[in-house]
Amino acid sequence: MLDKSRLRIAIQKSGRLSDDSRELLARCGIKINLQQQRLIAYAENMPIDLLRVRDDDIPGLVMDGVVDLGIIGENVLEEELLSRLAQGNTPSYKTLRRLDFGACRLSLAAPLDFNYTGAECLNGARIATSYPHLLKRYFDEKGIQFKSCLLNGSVEVAPRAGLADAICDLVSTGATLEANGLKEVEVIYRSKACLIQRDGEMSADKQQLINRMMTRIQGVIQARE
Ligand code: PRP
Ligand code: ZN
Ligand code: MG
Repeated sequence: MLDKSRLRIAIQKSGRLSDDSRELLARCGIKINLQQQRLIAYAENMPIDLLRVRDDDIPGLVMDGVVDLGIIGENVLEEELLSRLAQGNTPSYKTLRRLDFGACRLSLAAPLDFNYTGAECLNGARIATSYPHLLKRYFDEKGIQFKSCLLNGSVEVAPRAGLADAICDLVSTGATLEANGLKEVEVIYRSKACLIQRDGEMSADKQQLINRMMTRIQGVIQARE
């Protein structure tokens, strides 16, 4: 059984945000032994438990109130939000702070030989993505029709595999696109990591701990500016 009196923070287990998330918590003075490949890690010097999960699961864990805090990319957060709204739910959470890492963009990309002349030329196209709701919002605003091909990984191989005409995926350095013969043609969303908190009451002890963390995060980020 998990101890509910301890502050529960979800971070990405392995991926683009993992190292920076861990470093930020370490700089807040939280001593965590992450030697073992465990789902849950306990802080040695503060009443904090760290849940190490897939990034895609973090917004839901916070919105469902399963964890108190989460460090997540705005792209993943916004997609989950739109997805829940589309299902008729009214998700709730608070953004405590935008962080200074995890910068990336969600972009449309097409094969190098694709004669791209603007978003309209993708009208009717099939587009592979893990972000169907962000993509739909973008195209809806422009009045463009599209067919989506939902893939949770290896999105960049879809055009070559004949599954889609173009893709909508995250771009950080651009190496993945380049390695797959694709060119970025449109940025549809710019993202950074952020710290979010579940809705609802927080015990006085947890609130105090969060306040202390926020002060330290502020200091850490200011020092890096
Ligand atoms: C994204 C995206 C590409 C890669 C692009 O995945 O799906 O695979 O990063 O980065 P690049 O431009 O530097 O090559 P990411 O690892 O962020 O998300 P995931 O772990 O949830 O798939
Ligand atoms: Zn992911
Ligand atoms: Mg990836």
